[in-house]
Amino acid sequence: MAVQINERVVVLDYGSQYNLLIVRRLREIGAYAELIDPDQSWTQLSQGVPVKAVILSGGPNSVYEAGAPRLPEGLIESGIPVLGICYGMQLLAKELGGQVVASKRREYGPANFRLHHPSPLWNGLAESEPCWMSHGDQVFKLPVGFESLASTDTALAAMGDEKRKIYALQFHPEVTHTPAGKQILRNFVELAGCELSWTAGNFVEASLGEIAQQIGDSRVVCALSGGVDSTVAAVLVHRAIGNRLTCLFVDNGLLRQDEGDQVMSSLSHLGLQVRRINAQERFLSELKGHTEPEIKRKKVGETFIRVFEDQVHELGDVPYLVQGTLYPDVIESGHGGHKKAHNIKTHHNVGGLPEDLTFKLVEPLRQLFKDEVRRVGRELGIDTALLERQPFPGPGMAVRCLGEVREDRLVVLRAADAIVRQELDQLPLQGPGRRPWQYFAALLPVKSVGVQGDARAYAEVVVVRAVYSEDAMTAQVADLDHGLLTRLATRIVNEVSGVSRVVYDITPKPPGTIEWE
Ligand code: XMP
Repeated sequence: MAVQINERVVVLDYGSQYNLLIVRRLREIGAYAELIDPDQSWTQLSQGVPVKAVILSGGPNSVYEAGAPRLPEGLIESGIPVLGICYGMQLLAKELGGQVVASKRREYGPANFRLHHPSPLWNGLAESEPCWMSHGDQVFKLPVGFESLASTDTALAAMGDEKRKIYALQFHPEVTHTPAGKQILRNFVELAGCELSWTAGNFVEASLGEIAQQIGDSRVVCALSGGVDSTVAAVLVHRAIGNRLTCLFVDNGLLRQDEGDQVMSSLSHLGLQVRRINAQERFLSELKGHTEPEIKRKKVGETFIRVFEDQVHELGDVPYLVQGTLYPDVIESGHGGHKKAHNIKTHHNVGGLPEDLTFKLVEPLRQLFKDEVRRVGRELGIDTALLERQPFPGPGMAVRCLGEVREDRLVVLRAADAIVRQELDQLPLQGPGRRPWQYFAALLPVKSVGVQGDARAYAEVVVVRAVYSEDAMTAQVADLDHGLLTRLATRIVNEVSGVSRVVYDITPKPPGTIEWE
């Protein structure tokens, strides 16, 4: 389902790991951008919403390699403004009659580039700026019509043909290590005449009509967990079609302390019609006796599907299902209209539904990044606490209660986890000792001896996990203050019966994962 968009910037995907960042930066600037397969002609890729500018991404190939990806046929002749980045720069140089050579020294990491020719691309920049390099080849001879615009100590950093509005950068403007990168991208889309009108507000406005049109008079169902994506998707659909949307909240008994009630209350404040399904016992009985993590995950997933099926059956004729699919999910699953996506992440959401449960999908967020979803959520009046909620695994406490999942052990885990959250919630959002990105407790099926009062204790071990991350793909362990760690240990052992010892997990990801199972 496409939201009405009047113009777009096309980012051609030559395979760099930073590609989604280019799209993201452009959206931050207000230019609607899409990542697209370069293996097509200009006529094909310019169909549909008008293209105002094209960016050629970086990539792992060398331009002289056999089979290296090329420029789309007719791109340059179209007269569209083009910005090449890294591989994109080398490709422009080679195809427009310049020359590319292997660098004597490969350049990875920070560098500085100095401007030596004025250009609208440099508006607002200092004479010398830090940047991030990651290349083996470099442009040796400029193509006809191009000027050298900047250089580092070792390489040509930028070139441009002002007449044709074709520019190229050897460094990566999309990464935060190039502080002026966003300004350069802004300068480029401005000189290309983009309107920069992409905002959460106009997204909401445009998508309401689209959703209403897609659904017509039908009914829609949505499984809600209280997570950001499904909540924002549901609220958007509710705005569009009102109470023809039924939300199901499956309480699997694997949530955090009081979370079920909190989720219900925040959802009903949003005006959503939510049915709570108390399926705690069903989940626990399916999990009984299982200790192997993958089996536990599978059991939770399967039970969710069965509970969901029963409920949908009761609802009668509901042809549509709302899902909170985001743009990176669309790209990673290879449905984004390009095929160079590597690095496929396994999506382990419990919401994976069986094939015979046939719904038509309503995915109002499929063009958005997570931060855009939060902005849309704010626009829709959703509470900040809900929008800033930490990620929580679909299988919930089942993967934090190592060993067998039993209610008596869940009681211990929930209480310990509540203390960890209570204490770390108080940390400031910014600055040294800032609040970690994700923090929680896990319960280990290991007994250890301790002394509590005058008595010997022999009980299980709680592990505290607290990490900083941007996207959960990598994570750094939070360097928590020792006083805080001591307070956590003391409070958990004293206040939660059934715990003899508290340990702090100091494993980064990789090699560890954030969750223990
Ligand atoms: P790992 O443990 O793989 O977790 O480093 C990465 C991030 O994903 C969350 N996580 C899940 N989220 N369903 C989810 O929606 C799941 O099954 C799941 N397992 C892990 C985890 O909390 C972390 O933020």
